Amino acid sequence: MVARTARAAAALRLLDCDILVEPGLLGSVGTIAARVAPAHRYVVITDDTVAGFYAERVVASFSGTDPLLLRIPPGEAHKTRLTWASLTDEMLDAGCGRDTTIIALGGGVVGDLAGFVAATFMRGIPFVQVPTTLLAMIDASIGGKTGVDAPAGKNLVGAFHQPKAVVADPQTLTTLPVNHRRAGAAEAIKHGVITDAAYFDRVAGALPALLTEPSGDAMHELIIGSITIKAGVVLGDERERGMRKILNFGHTLGHAIETASDYRLLHGEAIAVGMVLESVLAERIGLAAAGTSARVREVVRRAGLPADLPASLSPERLLALTRTDKKARAGAVEYALPLAVGTMAGADTRWSVRVRDDDVIAVLRAPDSR
Ligand SMILES: NC(=O)c1ccc[n+]([C@@H]2O[C@H](COP(=O)([O-])OP(=O)(O)OC[C@H]3O[C@@H](n4cnc5c(N)ncnc54)[C@H](O)[C@@H]3O)[C@@H](O)[C@H]2O)c1
Ligand SMILES: [Zn+2]
Repeated sequence: MVARTARAAAALRLLDCDILVEPGLLGSVGTIAARVAPAHRYVVITDDTVAGFYAERVVASFSGTDPLLLRIPPGEAHKTRLTWASLTDEMLDAGCGRDTTIIALGGGVVGDLAGFVAATFMRGIPFVQVPTTLLAMIDASIGGKTGVDAPAGKNLVGAFHQPKAVVADPQTLTTLPVNHRRAGAAEAIKHGVITDAAYFDRVAGALPALLTEPSGDAMHELIIGSITIKAGVVLGDERERGMRKILNFGHTLGHAIETASDYRLLHGEAIAVGMVLESVLAERIGLAAAGTSARVREVVRRAGLPADLPASLSPERLLALTRTDKKARAGAVEYALPLAVGTMAGADTRWSVRVRDDDVIAVLRAPDSR
């Protein structure tokens, strides 16, 4: 167990941030925060659901000091400037100053929001990510993107602000509903497609069993494997000027599907469909090796994730939604597409490929016909 933590920490000390993965770590959050971000005051920000399960343990892990516990209602609808304002006001009312460290305890919503509070409070104070969803452990907590949503769209107001540590306790996943575990696994599948065919095969082989044993060895390996991949990509391109774009695989169509479904699909469910369709697209335009999309579809199904577009979503509306992306220019939209499982296209074109609208529409109408 110790060796595993040491392995994760050694591999992931790169962004000036300790990344620790270990069952039971929740009881050490206070000690870790005092080591990586010593402060006069500590503020634990969480949501009501996560608070019910874990706030007491985290608060008790601070010896000799009483952290301020701030709770928000759960859900994406609260990842707003309004919640940011009330959190910062509560901290000011409590007398918090520059010498404060924030602990973000929860899923990606809490992580993005509390991270943005940390990025902006008194022009920036340290924070520690304590992710409690699979998606937050392997994706949202890694890389330093923080922010809130605006009526015009998701994540439109934010900042890059690296946490001082990421403390992931896989035992917290035992209380996470299985559909959220599956949604997190979609990002692990993506990590395999974009960088590592062997990792992709390992994830495929461990599914679906790893989802029913969230604190088992297979899940532990998946968390460490995915964090290593994401941190490696981010390290190569911290401000998303190039290679970091490969993390968008499945997300151009996936975001459109998520929005068009009015968020009835979870993010990971929408990008599962997006990954299947974008790999079909990559084959159709002659980029990806034959069979790539079949492999992606198979592993998506093994995870219990949807692989097909819900019939209620119109191809024309989806195309229009991909065009709200700033990268869209007349008649074509930029995608991050695979050459094969484990290798992405576009090393010489800033990791994105322009795809004509008629090819996208053809795939959305009949994904099986290529
Ligand atoms: N910053 C980034 O790089 C990045 C990357 C990917 C996603 N995100 C963001 O992450 C957010 C999605 O994150 P998410 O999927 O973790 O959603 P979430 O934070 O909304 O959590 C999902 C639900 O699970 C509950 N929950 C969390 N942990 C639990 C646990 N251990 N047991 C029981 N219930 C638990 C939450 O209360 C919530 O209702 C989105 O806002 C997205 O934009 C950010
Ligand atoms: Zn995603």
